[in-house]
Amino acid sequence: MINIKQQLASLVTGYPVEEVEGLLSDIEDNSLGDYALPCFKFAKQQRLSPNIIAQQIASSIQPNVLIDKVCSVGGYCNFYLNKQYVTTQIVSQVVCQSDYGNSSLGQGKTICIDYSSINIAKPFHIGHLGTTAIGSCLYKVYKALGYNVVGINHLGDWGTQFGKLIVAYNKWSDKETILKGGLRALQDIYVRFHVEAEKDDSLNDQAREWFARIEQGDKSANELFNFFKDITLCEVKKLYQRLNVTFDSWNGESFYNNLMPDAIKFLEEKNIVTTSDGARVVDLSAYNMPPCLLVKSDGASLYATRDITAIMYRKATYDFYKCLYVVAYQQNLHFKQVFKVIELAGLPYADSLVHVAYGMVSLEEGSMSTRKGNTVWLEDVLNRAVDKARSIIEDKNPELPNKAEIAEQVGVGAVIFSALCNSRIKDITFSFDRVLSFEGETAPYLQYTHARCCSIFEKAGMSYYARCAHDHSVYDNVESVELAKLINKFPQVLVEVGQRYEPSILSCYLIDLAKSFNKYYLSQKMLCEDLGKQNARLDLAKSVQITLNKGLTLLGIACPTKM
Ligand code: ARG
Repeated sequence: MINIKQQLASLVTGYPVEEVEGLLSDIEDNSLGDYALPCFKFAKQQRLSPNIIAQQIASSIQPNVLIDKVCSVGGYCNFYLNKQYVTTQIVSQVVCQSDYGNSSLGQGKTICIDYSSINIAKPFHIGHLGTTAIGSCLYKVYKALGYNVVGINHLGDWGTQFGKLIVAYNKWSDKETILKGGLRALQDIYVRFHVEAEKDDSLNDQAREWFARIEQGDKSANELFNFFKDITLCEVKKLYQRLNVTFDSWNGESFYNNLMPDAIKFLEEKNIVTTSDGARVVDLSAYNMPPCLLVKSDGASLYATRDITAIMYRKATYDFYKCLYVVAYQQNLHFKQVFKVIELAGLPYADSLVHVAYGMVSLEEGSMSTRKGNTVWLEDVLNRAVDKARSIIEDKNPELPNKAEIAEQVGVGAVIFSALCNSRIKDITFSFDRVLSFEGETAPYLQYTHARCCSIFEKAGMSYYARCAHDHSVYDNVESVELAKLINKFPQVLVEVGQRYEPSILSCYLIDLAKSFNKYYLSQKMLCEDLGKQNARLDLAKSVQITLNKGLTLLGIACPTKM
């Protein structure tokens, strides 16, 4: 990355370079210059008017290779960049980099990310899209920033529902049916259990008994439990593959069973646990929160107990610098309570725990029939998006090779992008037509722009690679320098995504980049007789393609070269 602000700051004499660099800001309207330096602070220090300071600074700087001119306007010093020089500097750096945007910012630091964290034998539904897409994007971005990252799928694999499932399975199903029907077959018998248990309460007693048998390590109970788990994992792993999502750990809630007694003992020793109605709790009334339940009166542990145990385990195992939880905002209170308990226990890493909350994804009314209740399976949404993408391709570009593969990349990409393009805390309503549009702020638009770059290179053929001549005078226009400045921002965009746990900063950036390139593309003749000019323009297009490719990859979206 070229640090333009730093280069400008070093031209300003008499003031600390770092301070000047921090004050410089982008100017939206480029007829007024590229960067502005507000002089109010300096004026105050010297008891002079900002205008006078701005004039002093402006007149002390001679035009040079970096800037065409400096003007003072209303207490600001406005810098006009030398378009050709700046564009050349940026482009020549980007085209020769293999991993543009990567840095060593996070060297030596480990970040744990708890995301997706689905529940065994329950639907992998549209509600998991947010956590899966946001968590996976953060995972990839932190890796690019040089952190050591541990992706954790904290499986929901513990609880009385497994007792219910065993009862239902024994009564109304068998191995073959489940092997064939997978997760949906499990869901069917689970739903049936609740219907039947309404009429016959003894089923609930049987379920409790079976769950107790799982807890006590009974062989046949655990065989079934593991069978349900295998069925679920086998199915969700296919989905994760389609979504380009990976994990380093699949330690779910049941993993912490053996570790919980020690964790509880630790909290007891810190004297923060009290008894309330026979349950062991941490009183949080001083913090305006309900108590955090650790052990129920019947001795059973809770969701929070397992999270508290998992935090201690993760710290001991990974020595994280931060541990993130990408979980819907509905669980705000849960995480506030859990983090508070860690703090009250005097554990110094309480403030490195972060709940990365996000809003709900719902489908537009009537856009998909929901089988049984309100469950919209993520797999159905992906398939539907891929089908639609396929028919759009059939329509627009029937000659395209690998149509099926591209339809998969476009359809799945569109769904992922829909979860990443808005500020994560916002609730979103998903519309197939909108996310698959090739115009507007969508993944297909980004993929299409990427493919457009690739097709330009293909058309240029060998001449592009004959890098003998590069006539950089073609960069001497607003479109070029605007595009180059945007490309130059990419590494900083990734840093901000990491700082604010906000993938939408990257999605919005890529949309801006694609728009800027398409504007450039319309204003310039990419392929021309003059190879020197053509090569220089192609280099700018190459920088765009490199950045789009890297950005889309970090979002988890594929980048076809043809569309
Ligand atoms: N399985 C939970 C659910 O679907 C999410 C788990 C989030 N992670 C955690 N460590 N609590 O609601």
